Amino acid sequence: MEWLKVFSGEQEALQRIQNNKPQLVIANGQRICLVNHNNRFFAVQDSCTHSGASLSQGSINYLGEIICPLHNYCFNLQTGQELSSRSRDLKTYPVKIDDSGFFIGI
Ligand code: FES
Repeated sequence: MEWLKVFSGEQEALQRIQNNKPQLVIANGQRICLVNHNNRFFAVQDSCTHSGASLSQGSINYLGEIICPLHNYCFNLQTGQELSSRSRDLKTYPVKIDDSGFFIGI
């Protein structure tokens, strides 16, 4: 796994990724959906495993799950699992924040 620097640090990440507003980032050519849920960051594949919709166009519910904008499938941001196991799990990526920056593990 390689750590890719996405932001200069937590401050920049909090400015760029608003609470509960999924954001698309492209890291190493991969489309990744970044989520800030109550100041906890999650990174999952952007493409929905059901039919490929962009999850960064989706929304976050009060449980911190991401809801696909196309057919409303609901995925756990930590495990990538779909709530009712209707489609494959999303790929999840670790996030690391330290003095040198904000990183996603690819
Ligand atoms: S494309 Fe995401 S639920 Fe159908």
